[in-house]
Amino acid sequence: VEGWAIVVAAGSGERFGRPKQFEALGGRRVLDMAVSAASASCAGVVVVVPPGCDSAPVAGADVIVAGGETRSASVRAGLAAVPASADIIVVHDAARPLARAELWAEVMGAVERGAEAAIPAVPVTDTLKRIVDGRVAETIDRGQLVAVQTPQAFRAELLRRAHAGGGDATDDAALVEALGAVVTVVTGDPDNLKITSPVDLVVAEALLAERGGR
Ligand code: C5P
Repeated sequence: VEGWAIVVAAGSGERFGRPKQFEALGGRRVLDMAVSAASASCAGVVVVVPPGCDSAPVAGADVIVAGGETRSASVRAGLAAVPASADIIVVHDAARPLARAELWAEVMGAVERGAEAAIPAVPVTDTLKRIVDGRVAETIDRGQLVAVQTPQAFRAELLRRAHAGGGDATDDAALVEALGAVVTVVTGDPDNLKITSPVDLVVAEALLAERGGR
Protein backbone atom coordinates (compact mmCIF):
# COMPACT_ATOMS: atom_id res chain seq x y z
CA VAL A 1 0.00 0.00 0.00
CA GLU A 2 1.54 3.27 -1.15
CA GLY A 3 0.89 6.27 1.10
CA TRP A 4 1.58 9.87 0.13
CA ALA A 5 1.37 12.97 2.30
CA ILE A 6 0.31 16.50 1.43
CA VAL A 7 1.62 19.00 4.00
CA VAL A 8 -0.18 22.33 3.57
CA ALA A 9 1.93 25.32 4.54
CA ALA A 10 0.61 28.06 2.27
CA GLY A 11 -1.30 30.09 4.86
CA SER A 12 -0.44 33.70 5.56
CA GLY A 13 -0.77 33.40 9.36
CA GLU A 14 -3.39 36.15 9.65
CA ARG A 15 -4.25 35.34 13.28
CA PHE A 16 -0.61 34.74 14.21
CA GLY A 17 0.63 37.96 12.60
CA ARG A 18 3.09 36.32 10.18
CA PRO A 19 3.43 32.91 8.48
CA LYS A 20 3.65 30.68 11.57
CA GLN A 21 4.87 27.66 9.61
CA PHE A 22 8.30 29.29 9.21
CA GLU A 23 8.76 30.12 12.92
CA ALA A 24 11.58 28.37 14.79
CA LEU A 25 10.70 25.47 17.09
CA GLY A 26 13.30 23.31 18.82
CA GLY A 27 16.03 24.68 16.57
CA ARG A 28 14.14 23.80 13.37
CA ARG A 29 11.16 25.36 11.61
CA VAL A 30 7.56 24.40 12.39
CA LEU A 31 7.20 23.31 8.74
CA ASP A 32 10.31 21.10 8.83
CA MET A 33 9.03 19.23 11.89
CA ALA A 34 5.70 18.54 10.18
CA VAL A 35 7.42 17.41 6.98
CA SER A 36 9.85 15.08 8.77
CA ALA A 37 6.94 13.27 10.46
CA ALA A 38 5.27 12.96 7.05
CA SER A 39 8.35 11.58 5.31
CA ALA A 40 8.93 9.06 8.10
CA SER A 41 5.41 7.69 7.53
CA CYS A 42 4.86 7.95 3.78
CA ALA A 43 6.45 6.90 0.48
CA GLY A 44 6.38 10.50 -0.72
CA VAL A 45 5.62 14.01 0.51
CA VAL A 46 4.19 16.99 -1.36
CA VAL A 47 4.71 20.28 0.47
CA VAL A 48 2.46 23.21 -0.42
CA VAL A 49 4.04 26.61 0.28
CA PRO A 50 3.02 30.23 -0.34
CA PRO A 51 3.36 31.33 -3.99
CA GLY A 52 6.88 32.65 -4.49
CA CYS A 53 8.37 30.36 -1.82
CA ASP A 54 8.22 27.25 -4.01
CA SER A 55 11.82 27.44 -5.25
CA ALA A 56 13.35 27.12 -1.75
CA PRO A 57 14.20 23.53 -0.76
CA VAL A 58 12.41 21.81 2.14
CA ALA A 59 14.16 18.81 3.73
CA GLY A 60 12.11 15.64 3.31
CA ALA A 61 9.90 17.03 0.53
CA ASP A 62 9.69 15.10 -2.75
CA VAL A 63 7.68 17.82 -4.51
CA ILE A 64 7.14 21.47 -3.58
CA VAL A 65 4.22 23.36 -5.11
CA ALA A 66 2.63 26.77 -4.63
CA GLY A 67 -0.66 26.97 -2.72
CA GLY A 68 -3.90 28.81 -3.32
CA GLU A 69 -6.20 31.38 -1.74
CA THR A 70 -7.83 28.94 0.68
CA ARG A 71 -6.69 25.83 2.54
CA SER A 72 -8.84 23.66 0.25
CA ALA A 73 -7.30 25.25 -2.86
CA SER A 74 -3.85 24.56 -1.41
CA VAL A 75 -4.76 20.90 -0.83
CA ARG A 76 -5.92 20.70 -4.46
CA ALA A 77 -2.58 22.14 -5.64
CA GLY A 78 -0.89 19.38 -3.62
CA LEU A 79 -3.24 16.68 -4.91
CA ALA A 80 -2.31 17.51 -8.51
CA ALA A 81 1.30 16.59 -7.66
CA VAL A 82 0.54 13.26 -5.92
CA PRO A 83 1.31 10.38 -8.32
CA ALA A 84 -1.54 8.17 -9.54
CA SER A 85 0.20 5.20 -7.87
CA ALA A 86 -0.75 6.48 -4.38
CA ASP A 87 -3.37 4.31 -2.65
CA ILE A 88 -3.69 6.42 0.50
CA ILE A 89 -3.30 10.18 0.75
CA VAL A 90 -2.76 11.85 4.11
CA VAL A 91 -3.35 15.58 4.48
CA HIS A 92 -1.54 17.37 7.29
CA ASP A 93 -1.37 20.99 8.43
CA ALA A 94 2.19 22.32 8.68
CA ALA A 95 0.82 24.25 11.67
CA ARG A 96 0.73 20.96 13.67
CA PRO A 97 4.43 20.20 14.16
CA LEU A 98 3.94 17.86 17.14
CA ALA A 99 1.93 15.09 15.46
CA ARG A 100 3.63 11.84 16.45
CA ALA A 101 4.50 8.93 14.14
CA GLU A 102 2.03 6.81 16.15
CA LEU A 103 -0.83 9.10 15.13
CA TRP A 104 0.19 8.92 11.46
CA ALA A 105 0.29 5.12 11.78
CA GLU A 106 -3.14 5.06 13.35
CA VAL A 107 -4.99 7.02 10.68
CA MET A 108 -3.13 5.30 7.84
CA GLY A 109 -3.66 1.88 9.43
CA ALA A 110 -7.40 2.46 9.67
CA VAL A 111 -7.60 3.18 5.93
CA GLU A 112 -5.31 0.21 5.13
CA ARG A 113 -7.73 -1.99 7.06
CA GLY A 114 -10.67 -0.76 4.96
CA ALA A 115 -11.86 2.61 6.26
CA GLU A 116 -12.67 5.19 3.58
CA ALA A 117 -11.21 7.99 5.72
CA ALA A 118 -9.74 8.30 9.23
CA ILE A 119 -9.27 11.44 11.31
CA PRO A 120 -7.99 12.11 14.84
CA ALA A 121 -10.28 13.82 17.35
CA VAL A 122 -10.02 14.93 20.98
CA PRO A 123 -12.73 15.86 23.48
CA VAL A 124 -13.71 19.51 23.76
CA THR A 125 -12.81 20.94 27.18
CA ASP A 126 -14.27 24.46 26.96
CA THR A 127 -17.98 25.11 27.38
CA LEU A 128 -19.40 26.04 23.98
CA LYS A 129 -22.20 28.51 23.29
CA ARG A 130 -23.83 29.73 20.13
CA ILE A 131 -23.93 33.52 19.98
CA VAL A 132 -26.37 35.67 18.01
CA ASP A 133 -25.94 39.45 17.94
CA GLY A 134 -23.58 39.38 20.93
CA ARG A 135 -25.95 37.38 23.12
CA VAL A 136 -26.05 33.73 24.06
CA ALA A 137 -28.63 31.90 22.00
CA GLU A 138 -27.77 28.40 23.20
CA THR A 139 -25.33 26.36 25.30
CA ILE A 140 -24.25 23.34 23.28
CA ASP A 141 -23.81 19.91 24.88
CA ARG A 142 -20.06 19.41 24.46
CA GLY A 143 -20.44 15.70 25.20
CA GLN A 144 -21.48 15.27 21.58
CA LEU A 145 -18.64 17.36 20.17
CA VAL A 146 -14.98 16.73 19.41
CA ALA A 147 -12.15 18.88 18.12
CA VAL A 148 -10.62 17.44 14.97
CA GLN A 149 -6.92 17.38 14.07
CA THR A 150 -4.65 16.41 11.22
CA PRO A 151 -3.10 14.11 9.91
CA GLN A 152 -6.27 12.94 8.09
CA ALA A 153 -5.97 9.82 5.91
CA PHE A 154 -8.13 8.99 2.88
CA ARG A 155 -8.46 6.44 0.13
CA ALA A 156 -6.75 8.34 -2.68
CA GLU A 157 -9.63 8.00 -5.12
CA LEU A 158 -12.13 9.29 -2.54
CA LEU A 159 -10.07 12.38 -1.68
CA ARG A 160 -9.61 13.19 -5.37
CA ARG A 161 -13.37 12.88 -5.94
CA ALA A 162 -14.12 15.04 -2.88
CA HIS A 163 -11.93 17.84 -4.25
CA ALA A 164 -13.05 17.48 -7.87
CA GLY A 165 -15.99 19.82 -7.21
CA GLY A 166 -13.68 22.57 -5.95
CA GLY A 167 -15.43 22.96 -2.58
CA ASP A 168 -14.15 24.84 0.43
CA ALA A 169 -14.03 23.61 4.03
CA THR A 170 -11.76 23.93 7.04
CA ASP A 171 -10.72 20.29 6.73
CA ASP A 172 -10.72 17.61 4.03
CA ALA A 173 -12.97 15.21 5.91
CA ALA A 174 -15.82 17.73 5.49
CA LEU A 175 -15.59 17.44 1.69
CA VAL A 176 -15.53 13.65 1.93
CA GLU A 177 -18.52 13.71 4.32
CA ALA A 178 -20.42 15.75 1.72
CA LEU A 179 -20.07 12.77 -0.64
CA GLY A 180 -21.71 10.54 1.96
CA ALA A 181 -18.52 8.63 2.76
CA VAL A 182 -17.95 7.17 6.23
CA VAL A 183 -15.25 8.95 8.21
CA THR A 184 -13.66 6.85 10.96
CA VAL A 185 -12.55 8.66 14.11
CA VAL A 186 -9.38 7.66 15.96
CA THR A 187 -8.18 8.97 19.32
CA GLY A 188 -6.27 12.19 18.76
CA ASP A 189 -3.40 13.53 20.83
CA PRO A 190 -4.02 16.60 23.02
CA ASP A 191 -0.34 17.51 22.54
CA ASN A 192 -0.86 17.71 18.76
CA LEU A 193 -1.69 21.38 19.00
CA LYS A 194 -2.20 23.73 16.11
CA ILE A 195 0.07 26.76 16.16
CA THR A 196 -2.44 29.58 15.87
CA SER A 197 -1.21 32.35 18.17
CA PRO A 198 2.28 33.12 19.56
CA VAL A 199 1.51 31.46 22.94
CA ASP A 200 1.06 28.14 21.10
CA LEU A 201 4.74 28.26 20.11
CA VAL A 202 5.71 28.66 23.77
CA VAL A 203 3.58 25.64 24.70
CA ALA A 204 4.93 23.63 21.75
CA GLU A 205 8.51 24.44 22.75
CA ALA A 206 7.80 23.17 26.29
CA LEU A 207 6.13 19.97 25.03
CA LEU A 208 9.05 19.36 22.70
CA ALA A 209 11.61 19.82 25.49
CA GLU A 210 9.62 17.39 27.64
CA ARG A 211 9.77 14.69 24.98
CA GLY A 212 13.50 15.17 24.39
CA GLY A 213 13.36 17.23 21.20
CA ARG A 214 11.51 14.68 19.09
O1 C5P B 1 -5.57 28.91 8.53
P1 C5P B 1 -5.49 27.58 9.18
O2 C5P B 1 -4.84 27.64 10.53
O3 C5P B 1 -6.75 26.78 9.16
O4 C5P B 1 -4.48 26.77 8.29
C1 C5P B 1 -4.28 25.39 8.45
C2 C5P B 1 -3.15 24.96 7.55
O5 C5P B 1 -3.49 25.23 6.18
C3 C5P B 1 -1.85 25.72 7.83
O6 C5P B 1 -0.78 24.79 7.86
C4 C5P B 1 -1.75 26.70 6.68
O7 C5P B 1 -0.41 27.02 6.30
C5 C5P B 1 -2.47 25.96 5.55
N1 C5P B 1 -3.08 26.86 4.54
C6 C5P B 1 -2.70 26.75 3.20
N2 C5P B 1 -3.23 27.60 2.25
C7 C5P B 1 -4.11 28.56 2.61
C8 C5P B 1 -4.52 28.68 3.97
C9 C5P B 1 -3.99 27.81 4.91
O8 C5P B 1 -1.88 25.88 2.88
N3 C5P B 1 -4.57 29.40 1.66
